[in-house]
Amino acid sequence: MSQTQLVEVDAGLVVVGLYEGEQLPEGVAGALGAADAKGGLEKVSLLHPERPGRVLAVGLGKRDDADTERFRVAAAIAAKEAAKLDVTSLAWLLPESGDGEATAAALVTGTILASYRFDRFRSSDPDGPPPPRLESLTLLGPASIAEAAEASRVCAEAQNRARDLQSLPSNVATPSYLAGRAEEIAGMNDVLSVEVLGRAEISAKEMGGLVAVSQGTEEEPKLIVLRYAGGGSGPTLGLVGKGVTFDTGGISLKPSASMHEMKMDMSGAAAVLEAVGAIAELGLALDLIAVVPSTENMPSGTAIKPGDVITQYNGKTVEVNNTDAEGRLILADALAYAVELGAERIVDLATLTGAVLIALGSTYAAVISNDDDLADEVEQAGKTTGELVWRLPLHPEYKELTKGAVADLTNASAKRKAGTIYAGSFLEEFVGETPWAHVDIAGTAWDVGRAYTGNDASGFGVRLLVELAHELSA
Ligand code: BES
Ligand code: MN
Ligand code: ZN
Repeated sequence: MSQTQLVEVDAGLVVVGLYEGEQLPEGVAGALGAADAKGGLEKVSLLHPERPGRVLAVGLGKRDDADTERFRVAAAIAAKEAAKLDVTSLAWLLPESGDGEATAAALVTGTILASYRFDRFRSSDPDGPPPPRLESLTLLGPASIAEAAEASRVCAEAQNRARDLQSLPSNVATPSYLAGRAEEIAGMNDVLSVEVLGRAEISAKEMGGLVAVSQGTEEEPKLIVLRYAGGGSGPTLGLVGKGVTFDTGGISLKPSASMHEMKMDMSGAAAVLEAVGAIAELGLALDLIAVVPSTENMPSGTAIKPGDVITQYNGKTVEVNNTDAEGRLILADALAYAVELGAERIVDLATLTGAVLIALGSTYAAVISNDDDLADEVEQAGKTTGELVWRLPLHPEYKELTKGAVADLTNASAKRKAGTIYAGSFLEEFVGETPWAHVDIAGTAWDVGRAYTGNDASGFGVRLLVELAHELSA
């Protein structure tokens, strides 16, 4: 592209990538300051500061190290620079790479995710008005990248909607609110359908885990089933997402210091619901059943007490020794229900254990699975989208820890050994022989700190689930 062509691009800012130690692409190489532009990863240089033809160079690091994650990061950095310049339209000159489609997809993803902010409850900003939102992104490249770019837009926007759900406080994002969102998603497409069970139906079905956790709150629990009939020849995929809209710990009350973060204990539910929406929008060829158990976990005169014994949906009994290990109780019912509804492979997403944050931080989510193929597929999907997962093992010795003193199982052991695996091993009791992978996202659902996610809600899992569905669809 020549310099005159670049000047004619209808965008507030044109962005070009620069590999370390290499020349700027033709058309900008002659621009003011071009010689000083740095290709080091994440370096930015404003080459031609005036409009029209304002150009920003973003360092991509060494060409040999280039991967989609770097393009997501570079795009995020450009989007933030654009915001500083009050620019609402961006154009990226597609950098050279081995895979134009993947690069285009990564640029779209990084741009849309980095442009996200949650300001619904701000009436005025003491630091002046926030920068205007980005309205358009143009990719300057071959027409062959258009489809991949558009699919990425769909996924990234779904991820941002999941971040909205995560960020909403628990007095807004109640179980009923999540159910309403599921109904909204179902309403967008003929091949989607939704069914919502309330407190009475949950009791009548004897979903003992969801009954137990929700008995301490006045807020109505919901069991949300969202189905997508996309056809295809593969097995029906079940998705289960933990939807605890606020987790106080119950009678086993959490310390108050960071309790407010527990409004995000429905991050698995948010990812599952919005992923299904995106899968339907993309029209992927597979059948899906999503099950979201949703409730608050509150202490009260009616709350479940440590030591109480409950009967889960599949008939297994559980001694609830810690009411703060509530996620596994509601997921147990949801997993068994998903199997009953016909899910032939299941992936669940849950902010399940603080232990995963200790083990893997915010870089990897943990995956625990009874099926090597499914675990590999989840891992592969995560590599593609940058939502990394690391597999942790199951073992009979861990299973031993989950045995109850007076019931089949106990939901938490005083020994606190292998907390994340313990929870996964517990969940395994509710899927029978169905291939299943549990993804513990307690460390990755917020405070990830990547250039394109920031430190608030990350929407982790949305793109991973869509990618997985894409791989399973064929
Ligand atoms: N929602 C929490 C897990 C969590 C902790 C998510 C920190 C995000 C950040 C979960 O319900 C919980 O409380 N788990 C307990 C289990 C324990 C009592 C066995 C935990 O991890 O401490
Ligand atoms: Mn808890
Ligand atoms: Zn929880």
